[in-house]
Amino acid sequence: MSKKLEGKVVLVTGASSGIGEATALALAAEGARVALLARRADRLEALAARIREAGGEALPLITDLADEAQARSAVLQTHQAFGRLDILINNAGIMLLGFIDGADTEEWRRMIDVNVLGLFYATHAALPLMKAQGGGHIVNVSSVAGRKARAGSGVYSATKWAVGAFTESLRVEVFRHNIRVSLIEPGAVDTELREHISDAKIREQSDAFFKSITPLQSPDIAAGILYAITQAPHVNVNEVLIRPVEQEY
Ligand SMILES: NC(=O)c1ccc[n+]([C@@H]2O[C@H](COP(=O)([O-])OP(=O)(O)OC[C@H]3O[C@@H](n4cnc5c(N)ncnc54)[C@H](OP(=O)(O)O)[C@@H]3O)[C@@H](O)[C@H]2O)c1
Repeated sequence: MSKKLEGKVVLVTGASSGIGEATALALAAEGARVALLARRADRLEALAARIREAGGEALPLITDLADEAQARSAVLQTHQAFGRLDILINNAGIMLLGFIDGADTEEWRRMIDVNVLGLFYATHAALPLMKAQGGGHIVNVSSVAGRKARAGSGVYSATKWAVGAFTESLRVEVFRHNIRVSLIEPGAVDTELREHISDAKIREQSDAFFKSITPLQSPDIAAGILYAITQAPHVNVNEVLIRPVEQEY
């Protein structure tokens, strides 16, 4: 049986762990040539080796998305190496949960730089390439936190709200160029994401919540992304919201 993504070139941001890593593996298994973007070189090299051993093609791109020049360069390098860019998966993100009052505002800047501006930069660099080749697909990873704001999630939720707004504007602006745009909204996924929370109490609450339910695993979200990008050419899967069964909000 032919693979679903044979001939497609995909750039996955945040590919060094969690959802991005699982997505790169799932897409490579379906025949996609994958560019892998993140800061941790060792993790990207190991993932690329794994994909190549399975017969796939992978290009590690050691990149800090918070830096516009680096973000743009990674998109261009993908196009140079593989000759096209069919699908951009804007997945990289950080979740530094904390209360607004008394917050370390440097954490706000870090989240906005990666979750919002990094995604904008990569998209901006990809659009001319996709238009020139006659189409493409941009997949933006938001969160349930992009629909529900809670105490302690203010700025993280704000970044994901921004991703939702940007995604809808983008869809309306680019569909005439045959560029599809999808928003993926995961609930609780068991990854490294919450390890970076500096507020000990919120971190504890978050760990306790994960222990109290059966959380999603990264391949569950990779399956949702694969669904969104493998539909017939006239179908645009605009949004995919995936929660664990036991997650109430
Ligand atoms: N886990 C959840 O429950 C959950 C729920 C909803 C939404 N999400 C979203 O899913 C996405 C993936 O998160 P995850 O759960 O898979 O967490 P993760 O395992 O911590 O993955 C985050 C990825 O983002 C990359 N990244 C962070 N800062 C970066 C930067 N400045 N430049 C380039 N890459 C950067 C990390 O790579 P390096 O550190 O190597 O750079 C890593 O590969 C995020 O957007 C997150 O908000 C997750």
